Order: sequence, then structure tokens, then C-alpha cells
Amino acid sequence: MKLIVAVDEKWGIGKNGDLLLSIPDDMMYYRTTTRGKVVVMGYTTLLSLPGSKPAPGRLNLVLADIEGLRIPGAVVCGSMEQLLRLIGCFRPDDVFDVGGGSMYRQLLPYCSDAHITKMRFDGGADTFIPNLDELDGWSVADESELRDHEGLKYSFVIYHQDSPKPLVTAQKLSTDMSAYFKKKEPLTLRLPDTEDQAYRRELKSLLHAYFRPLEKGVSANDVADFLEQDDLSFEDYLRAHHHIADLTDIEALTKNDNSLTDQTETVIVDKKDLSAIDAYADGE
Ligand SMILES: NC(=O)c1ccc[n+]([C@@H]2O[C@H](COP(=O)([O-])OP(=O)(O)OC[C@H]3O[C@@H](n4cnc5c(N)ncnc54)[C@H](OP(=O)(O)O)[C@@H]3O)[C@@H](O)[C@H]2O)c1
Repeated sequence: MKLIVAVDEKWGIGKNGDLLLSIPDDMMYYRTTTRGKVVVMGYTTLLSLPGSKPAPGRLNLVLADIEGLRIPGAVVCGSMEQLLRLIGCFRPDDVFDVGGGSMYRQLLPYCSDAHITKMRFDGGADTFIPNLDELDGWSVADESELRDHEGLKYSFVIYHQDSPKPLVTAQKLSTDMSAYFKKKEPLTLRLPDTEDQAYRRELKSLLHAYFRPLEKGVSANDVADFLEQDDLSFEDYLRAHHHIADLTDIEALTKNDNSLTDQTETVIVDKKDLSAIDAYADGE
């Protein structure tokens, strides 16, 4: 696992539930570094995101001590044990701790790398993370030149920890998370022209899962029993429950049922507008 954070000169990271400062270059660095990855955050940090919504294009794992909480677009974990178990389902390099203070402190032992944007000012923070320059086991692996944003100096520094605490890993590691989010282009599908409503509903469910990963939100409690079974991963859970789907699943379903008529209708499905597939499934 890795972490990514912007700190001031006292290793302060936030004030009154918000960031100390927003540097456009740093925001871009954050977006490109975490795109297509698993991002792990505390509930306070989720609430500080635009619209208090999970970051798009990433698998969001949120730790919150609130019974029954569901967040569309995110997996909610009620305990650190649950969270660590889910994190263990993914390749360590695909997982980023994105804050805030409580999450950085608790997950620091498990991190191999820390992407730190060092801002040379005192933001009067009320939330801090440990100073990695003074922490045993951590050393600077890479550092950018000093940059400037409206007079504020900052640099991008990567720290490395030689022996992070190992995570309990599931038997099957995830495929590249970014595959889940590369569904931007409209998709042209040749769908069977059938009256079979069950078939149409199955296809609709798969297509929604293909275009909108984690649409309804998932609780880690839902996943726990599933993971008890041998050789199953969190990814398998998401697939089994149609929170994510493969295009290959959809292609298989559109081709394999020989009982269906040869007649097909061409439907163009757009990620932002699933009305074409809804209309197909409703038999319109
Ligand atoms: N500079 C940066 O790059 C950066 C990045 C992210 C965030 N931040 C800043 O960091 C600040 C937020 O940090 P924070 O420490 O206040 O909040 P946080 O870490 O974002 O989230 C705290 C939340 O997580 C829950 N939680 C934490 N550990 C838990 C556990 N073991 N079990 C169950 N629930 C747990 C807490 O529940 P309970 O309180 O009920 O235990 C609380 O709801 C904000 O100012 C934000 O802007 C800065």
C-alpha cells in the first residue's frame, strides 16, 4: 500500500475538516497518481470531497463507524479489521491511503511508499501526520525540484519504507483496477431480439454493472461471508453481485443462448445514458 498527502512545514494536513491549501499542480498529481486505483479514506475525508461523494474513476473504500451506512460508489467498512481484509484483496501497489489524519496514522505501518507534497509554509493545521524525516525505517527515495505557486514553494517527495508490515493477502489478487474504469466510450451491442424478459433483465443488470461500477454502494459486511469461501476474492464478490461486470460476460450472454432467435437489434449504450438498454430490457 502507498499513501499520498500534502503537508505543510509542520507536517500539518488539514484544518476545520478541510485542506490547508489547494495547489492545482498538486491536485493534478493526486488525480493522475490515484486514477484507476483503490483509494482508502476515513469518513471525514469523504465528506470533504466535492459534493461529499466518492472520487470517480477509483474504487473507493471508506472507513466509517456508522451502522448500516451505504455510500453510492463506495464500499463502506465498519472496522479497521474489515478494511485491512479488503485491502489485502488487491495488489499492494494498486492501493492508496488518501487520508485523513486518523487513516494515515493507522495505515502508516503497512505503507511501502509515501507520496508527500511538501509545502513550505505553516498552515496553522489542527490535523497532523508523523514527520517521516524523523521516523525510523523511512527514507527519501525521490524528490522533485522546488516549485512555485503564487509565491508558495513546494516539492513532490517520495519516501520509502523498507519493511512495511505485511497485509494478510487473499489467495487471488485483483487484476489492474484501472480496467474497471475504462468504460468511457459508448458501446455498440448487437442484442437478441427476444421476448424473454428474464434474459433481458439479466443483460440489463450486467450492462449497468459494466457501465457504473458500484452504483449502489456496498457494505463490507455484505462481503465478509462471501470471502470466507475458498479461493474467492473481493473482485469475485463484486462480479457475483453485478457491482462490476466484464465486457466478456456481456458478449457471452448476447451470443451463447442458442434458443434465442437470430434476429438482433443494434443498441448503442452510453455510460452517461443507459436509457437505450433500459428501453431494451423493458421490451419497448
Ligand atoms: N493534506 C492532505 O493531503 C489531506 C488528505 C486527506 C485529508 N486531509 C484532511 O484531514 C482531515 C481529516 O482527518 P481526520 O483524521 O479528522 O478524519 P479521517 O481520517 O478522514 O476520518 C475519520 C473518520 O473515520 C472513522 N474511523 C477512523 N478510524 C476508524 C476505525 N479504526 N474504525 C472505525 N471508524 C474509524 C472515524 O470514525 P470515529 O470518529 O467514529 O472513530 C471518522 O468518522 C481534514 O482536515 C482533511 O481535509 C488532508
